Amino acid sequence: MKPISIGVIGCGNISDAYFTGAARSELVRVKACADLNHAAAQAKAGQHGVAAVSVEQLLADPEISIVINLTIPRAHAPVALQILDAGKHVYLEKPLAATLTEARVDGARRCQGFARRLRTRYLFGAAHQACRRVVDSGQIGKPIGGSVAVLSHGMETWHPNPEFFFKPGGGLILDMGPYYIAQLVNLLGPVARVAACTTIGNATRTVTSEPLNGQVIQVEVPTTMNGVL
Ligand SMILES: NC(=O)c1ccc[n+]([C@@H]2O[C@H](COP(=O)([O-])OP(=O)(O)OC[C@H]3O[C@@H](n4cnc5c(N)ncnc54)[C@H](O)[C@@H]3O)[C@@H](O)[C@H]2O)c1
Repeated sequence: MKPISIGVIGCGNISDAYFTGAARSELVRVKACADLNHAAAQAKAGQHGVAAVSVEQLLADPEISIVINLTIPRAHAPVALQILDAGKHVYLEKPLAATLTEARVDGARRCQGFARRLRTRYLFGAAHQACRRVVDSGQIGKPIGGSVAVLSHGMETWHPNPEFFFKPGGGLILDMGPYYIAQLVNLLGPVARVAACTTIGNATRTVTSEPLNGQVIQVEVPTTMNGVL
């Protein structure tokens, strides 16, 4: 079977996982990659043996039917819409959008024209699928709740360009939350009510990773959250 040609937009830290993962698959092949920062696209293209092109060229390529959107969170919705408008399927890193309004626009656009066939799906890994099997088989009886906890100082100690984690669209809630909330909703059912408290513990974060060691980031989103759904 001929592999499906895919494109990658956003050639940053996580993109290697996709390039190397795709290289192991017989189902897909990365044909081209693009980034606002063309040098980043060229670097990944050279490393993984694909073509570096502009975002416009990638979206105009009729052979590419699926585009992986690995941009930073506040670019997720606009780039996803560009991909949909180009008549292609989009696979998106979390979060779907940086705000509810953007997510709704995204949803509304999906219902128009060619995109009517597209659906939103969350992909879960092996650990989640094992949990799902245990719940579905009745092995643990009726689940009465679930609890999740994420404890980490932050990304400024290891990510090469960590600013987006502390800006709208990032933060604990939209960056890490989607994993856990999606798991809970899928395993236990929809949320009826929410009670939560959040705070910004440190107004600034100082990067200690390279190459931006010493850069000070103004924190704009909550970094501590406790909630009951
Ligand atoms: N780094 C990780 O370990 C990790 C893990 C899981 C998920 N993610 C998610 O993957 C996404 C990307 O993360 P990352 O760590 O690779 O970020 P990154 O900052 O290292 O890379 C993002 C890239 O997107 C490019 N970009 C930004 N806006 C763009 C636009 N409008 N058009 C084209 N290119 C654009 C940037 O120039 C940059 O090269 C984020 O949503 C993040 O939450 C990251």
